[in-house]
Amino acid sequence: MIDNKTLLAYAKEAMNNAYAPYSKFKVGAALLTEDDRIYTGCNIENSSYGAAMCAERTAIYKAISDGNYNFKKIAIAASSEEYAYPCGLCRQVMSEFFHGNEKIILWDKNNGVAEIEFGSIMPYPFNKDCLK
Ligand code: THU
Repeated sequence: MIDNKTLLAYAKEAMNNAYAPYSKFKVGAALLTEDDRIYTGCNIENSSYGAAMCAERTAIYKAISDGNYNFKKIAIAASSEEYAYPCGLCRQVMSEFFHGNEKIILWDKNNGVAEIEFGSIMPYPFNKDCLK
């Protein structure tokens, strides 16, 4: 059983690997699969700004490419005063694999911790059900 504190520790460690020379805004994510594997990710920026990748999607894409796509929760750590809520693109990608009740655990640099459900930040997703 992997608790929030442990998952956050992984997210914070991943945050230290963030490649964010442009925004200086470092983010780390740790994604927990149904079978208790942890996939981490950090944001990866680029001199062509639009090619930047968020920490959450890095973690999700690592898991998917490893054959894991059933998720329990995700921890997100940010080097900022405010929590780094997943951006719109990440919410869309998450809505492909998250169903609503998965927990999102947030951490800020002042050691603030919050827990929300995915469904509360993406209440009306456009997902595969819409294509039926
Ligand atoms: N970023 C993330 O990695 N995750 C979030 O939840 C919010 C934003 C990144 C993208 C970019 O590298 C930097 O933070 C500033 O937007």
